[in-house]
Amino acid sequence: MSFSFPKLTAEEAASHIRHGQTVGFSGFTPAGAPKAIPLAVSKRAKVEHESGREFQIGVLTGASTGPSLDGALAEAAAISFRTPYQSNAALRSSINKGETRFVDMHLSMLPQIVRYGFLGPVDWAVVEACDLTSGGGIVLSTSVGAAPTFVGRAGKILIELNRRHPPSLLGMHDIYEPADPPHRHEIPIYHASDRIGSPLITVDPSKIVGVVETDLDDECAPFSPPTPATEKIGQNVAEFLVAEMRAGRIPKSFLPLQSGVGDVANSVLGALGRLPEIPAFEMYTEVLQDSVVDLLESGRCRFASTCSLTLSPPAMRRIVEQLNLFRSKILMRPQEISNNPEVVRRLGIISMNTAIEVDVFGNVNSTHVLGKQMMNGIGGSGDFTRNAYLSIFSCASTAKGGKISTIVPLVTHVDHSEHSVQVVITEQGVADLRGQDPHGRARIIIENCAHPSFRPQLLEYIEIVKHGHTPQSLSRAFAMHRQFIRTGDMGGIKWEDWA
Ligand code: COA
Repeated sequence: MSFSFPKLTAEEAASHIRHGQTVGFSGFTPAGAPKAIPLAVSKRAKVEHESGREFQIGVLTGASTGPSLDGALAEAAAISFRTPYQSNAALRSSINKGETRFVDMHLSMLPQIVRYGFLGPVDWAVVEACDLTSGGGIVLSTSVGAAPTFVGRAGKILIELNRRHPPSLLGMHDIYEPADPPHRHEIPIYHASDRIGSPLITVDPSKIVGVVETDLDDECAPFSPPTPATEKIGQNVAEFLVAEMRAGRIPKSFLPLQSGVGDVANSVLGALGRLPEIPAFEMYTEVLQDSVVDLLESGRCRFASTCSLTLSPPAMRRIVEQLNLFRSKILMRPQEISNNPEVVRRLGIISMNTAIEVDVFGNVNSTHVLGKQMMNGIGGSGDFTRNAYLSIFSCASTAKGGKISTIVPLVTHVDHSEHSVQVVITEQGVADLRGQDPHGRARIIIENCAHPSFRPQLLEYIEIVKHGHTPQSLSRAFAMHRQFIRTGDMGGIKWEDWA
C-alpha cells in the first residue's frame, strides 16, 4: 500500500519527543517493538545529559521489549516511569536502585487502565508496522500488545515501517477493543480460533507525524539448550496431563493451553507435542515461542491465539515462507483479549507458568528475589492462573547451583495465592493441591516437589509448627532465606537456632 506521510530519519522522529512526556510503544516481548526510534531517543538523552539538561520519558509498552528499547533507554538513564513488564538487565538494575519507578501490572489490565486515564495522558504512540495506508490504516507487525489503545489515546503517532516483515502479514491480527463500563458487553470468543475484530488498526491520519523506514529482525533472545531438569519438568507436566485425561478430568478433545515464556515453557510444549496420547490441541496464550511453530507445522497444535510471535529470526522466516498455512492457524490479539479473564474462564484454559519460589502451602512468588529485588514482573501469569480450569506452576526444585531451595516455608512475595494455584511441578514430581487443606498441601509439596537435600529440613519445619489451620512459625518462616543471605546456602538449617 502507499502512504503520504512525511518520511523521517529515526533522529528526526526522536527530536519530536520532549523531556517529561509519556510514550506508548508497540511490542509485546521484543516482537513488534520499535527499534530505531527508541535507540535514537536514547542517544538524544545521552547528549542532553552531557549538556547538563534533564531528559527522561515515561515508557508504556505491551510487555517486555528488546535491547534497542528498554536496554538502550535504561543505559541512557532515560526512563523515569515504566509499566507493565520488563526483562532487561539494565532496566532491572535501574528499577532495583530506585532510579526508575516501575509498576508491575497484570498485562490484560494495562489497556483499560490507560483508557481510564489512571496513568495520565499518552503524548506519543510509537508503533512498528508492516504496512500503512494514507487513510490511517496500520497493519501491525509481529505483535499487537497495547498498540490499538496507545494509538487511540495518543496525541501524536510515529510509525516505524519495518520492511523485514512483509505487508502480507495482513490477516494475522484480530484487533478488538472492548467498550468501557457501563457499556461493555461479553467478548464473543467461544473457541480459540474465533475472529472478532479487524485485521488492521485505523487511526485519524492527522495524528501521524511521520514514518521511519527500517529493515530489522525482532530482537528475541535465543533459547538455552535444555537441561536435565527442564526436560524432566516438561515430561512431568505432560504425563500429569495425560493422567488427568485418563481420569476424565480433561476431556478427550483436550482444553486450550496457555504457556509462559522461557526455557521451561519451551520444554513443556516440546514434551506435550511428543506424547501421542495427547490429541492435537489449541493454544490460547500470550506468547508464541519457537516450539509452537514446529507443533503447528506438524499439526500437533491445531490453532494458536496469541498476542505476539516471540520467535527467533529463523522461526519467523519459516512462518513468512508458508504464510498461507500459518495465516489459517494463528491469530494475534491485543493483550486485553489474549489474556482476558472472562475468555480464559469460559474456554477452560490449562495454564502453565513458572515460579521463582513456591511455599509449602502453594503460594507462588513469580517476581521478587528475596522479597525485594524485581526480576521481570507478573506478566500475564496472573491473568491466566486466577481464571484457569487447571492452573499449573513449575520450576526446578533448586536454584544457584543447589544452594537455594525453590520450595520454602513461606514465599517472600506473593503473586499467586494458594487459592489460585492448583498444581506444582518440579523435576522431582507433581503436587496436586486440589482438595487439600494446608497440612495436606505442605506434605505433598515437600514430599513430591522439594529437592531431596532440602526435604528433611522442610518436613522437620512442618513437624515443629504443626498447630493452626495453616501451620506456620512467624519467627522461622524466613529462616532459610535469612541463612542464605548470611552464608550463601539455604541448607543444613537448625530450626532451634531460629525459634
Ligand atoms: N531465588 C533466587 N534466584 C532464583 C530463584 C530463587 N528461588 N529461582 C530462580 N532464580 C534465578 C535463576 O537462578 C536465574 O538467574 P540467572 O538469570 O542469574 O541465571 C533466574 O532466576 C531465572 O530463572 P530460570 O530458572 O532461568 O527461569 P526462567 O527463565 O524460566 O524464569 C521467571 C523464571 C519466574 C523469572 C519467569 O518465568 C518470569 O518472569 N515469570 C513471570 C512472568 C510470567 O510468568 N509470565 C507468564 C506469561 S508469558
